[in-house]
Amino acid sequence: HYLTLYSSFNHIEEEIFNRYGVKAHIVRGNSDSDETVKAEMGTVTAELLEQSLYDNASVSVTGGSTMARVSESLHPLDKDILFTPARGGLGENVVFQANTICASMANRTGGSYKVLYVPDQVSESSYETLLKEPAVIEVLDAIRHSDFIIHGIGDALKMAQRRKTSEEVLSQLKHHHAVGEAFGYYFDSKGEVVHRVKTIGLQLEDLATKTNIFAVAGGASKAEAIKAYLEIAPKNTILITDEGAAKAMINLE
Ligand code: BG6
Repeated sequence: HYLTLYSSFNHIEEEIFNRYGVKAHIVRGNSDSDETVKAEMGTVTAELLEQSLYDNASVSVTGGSTMARVSESLHPLDKDILFTPARGGLGENVVFQANTICASMANRTGGSYKVLYVPDQVSESSYETLLKEPAVIEVLDAIRHSDFIIHGIGDALKMAQRRKTSEEVLSQLKHHHAVGEAFGYYFDSKGEVVHRVKTIGLQLEDLATKTNIFAVAGGASKAEAIKAYLEIAPKNTILITDEGAAKAMINLE
């Protein structure tokens, strides 16, 4: 239904495609000031995902409030879908953690899920040990083989603050002019990685092999973050965003 409802944004979607080579779906409004707009992005993403899912597909998801909205819009499916968290321990509050979101997506759709129990901060030697755990190896394998990726994009400094990042890393992010964040990677406006949260799971380079990638982020305040990420996003990424972010991205407002 949104295709006809939001066709007025065709020219902006085209402009985003011309600049970044990425297909965009834009919903009306600005999720910075209207929570129902975030819910609408969730609805559109869930629709697009449900249309493309097939039996025995596996889906890797990140955390965040936008992803939580996507999970709320999913329906029971007559397909067997496996959900995994894209990466472990990113310092997120439990309701926004990828583990939580993937469990709720599985519950909504009647699918199954695997979780990654990795603490946010562990020593180098603990990481090495964790990576040898059969349960961890099994989940990492499922993540690596996932057919679909659904992820959020965040404002770099807001995400760093939300994760209670150390002063040292915060000042490093500022020094390197970090503007965007996705999967625990922080980017400057050219899309250069200036910092990454040390954890296991999906690595940025793994995205290259994925055929179905949905990036969901909106709100005018995320415009710079989305632009930064699109500099390096795989071209088969489908961006679901809102009018507030999209117009700011192409300098219409
Ligand atoms: C986090 C992801 O959980 O959510 C980040 O790890 C992402 O990569 C962020 O940027 C987005 O959060 P929100 O609440 O703005 O959707």
